[in-house]
Amino acid sequence: MDRKHSCSQFAFNPETLALGLGYDPFRSEGAVKPPAFLTSTFQFRTAEEGKHYFELAYGLKEREEKDIDGLIYSRLNNPNLQIFEERLAAWDGTDAGSVFASGMAAISTLSLTLLKPGDYILCSAPVYGGTHYLFEHILPKFDIHTIQVHGGNNTAQLMREAAAKVGKDKVRMLFLETPANPSNTMVDIESIAALADELSAGADRRVITAVDNTFMGPIFQSPAKHGADLVIYSATKFIGGHSDLIAGVVTGKKKVMDELMLMRTILGTMANPFSGWLLLRSLETVAVRMRRQAETAQKVAEMLAAHPQVNRVCYPGLLEKGDPQRAIYDKQCTGPGALIAFEINGGEKAAMAALNRFEVARLAVSLGGTESLVQLPYCMTHSDVPPEQLESFGVTAGLVRMSVGLEHPEDLIHDCEQALKVD
Ligand SMILES: Cc1ncc(COP(=O)(O)O)c(C=O)c1O
Repeated sequence: MDRKHSCSQFAFNPETLALGLGYDPFRSEGAVKPPAFLTSTFQFRTAEEGKHYFELAYGLKEREEKDIDGLIYSRLNNPNLQIFEERLAAWDGTDAGSVFASGMAAISTLSLTLLKPGDYILCSAPVYGGTHYLFEHILPKFDIHTIQVHGGNNTAQLMREAAAKVGKDKVRMLFLETPANPSNTMVDIESIAALADELSAGADRRVITAVDNTFMGPIFQSPAKHGADLVIYSATKFIGGHSDLIAGVVTGKKKVMDELMLMRTILGTMANPFSGWLLLRSLETVAVRMRRQAETAQKVAEMLAAHPQVNRVCYPGLLEKGDPQRAIYDKQCTGPGALIAFEINGGEKAAMAALNRFEVARLAVSLGGTESLVQLPYCMTHSDVPPEQLESFGVTAGLVRMSVGLEHPEDLIHDCEQALKVD
């Protein structure tokens, strides 16, 4: 199956492509589902064929129309990874995808592909704790630096000012996490892509806009349609969706994806074939899961917002008309997602006591799985970020992050009510 119907050129929807794109059953004994290609290496028909495949893989030869990439070795390519990459790229409306051993493998491989000593990343904050650590503690060892600016309504202006300070020719990547983990703060992707154009004007290399789309994608937000060059995921989360695998993905434009694929081959940061197979299974249901999870999350968020023990609830589905964050949401999101951050009265002590009382939602980090999860970012996922910085983003010691799963909404609401009960 191709992205378009072969005779009418009718463009299929991603839900349909997730069931058929990039796979020919008759190359696998007629198996309707792609089998798991659990092999490290692939046999060549002839020595000439092997040579040709390597020339294509390493860009040693000008590519001709008739050339097709051959399977070589599972660090370079594998059918389970390739089919998944093609399907997710179609979902994001991008040229190509690349699947990694984890979301962090995706972000670190991407950073090493794009950046060289002396370069700067401008990044919206907050970001996931692991990304923060990479940008603040690992990349500086390679003389690559990050300026974090508040994610929100005027991030483009703050980034513009930061670029002017360091010198625009030093800026190579604008990195966004929108909505941000854990605060759900949103950044207008289009305004950042426009800034990237502005900073690239007259320069010999393009400033890349990269968006971590883990919270909303691929269902409720398509950053490439708003001008992003690269879309990043922790596929461990909603895409995998069953809390049974760790993986990451990047999708984007062909030229930069080719560079990324080569770096992945050399660093060996690809996903393994079985994770690729699991991801293919998961992609078939991601739309149904995410829509149902978001419906339930809306109900839970409304209940929390009305609860006397809750100071504030950060959830896109509760943003009011007139709020600039709501305008960003209306522009680039088609649903509110399933992540809720809510602050419990009484700080860390009260939040810990509540977390210990949940029975349906599990007390665990991660998100996007079929089961609901609760955790305390301040002292768990984001504990590496200095407290004063976290507090400036509204991530206080009493802020709980909840990932809403597929349980019955009534049971989850009941679970929240009993967890929030004061003794
Ligand atoms: C927004 C976001 N990006 C990236 C990551 C890293 O993904 P992984 O744990 O798959 O390496 C996470 C993990 O929680 C995340 O929440």
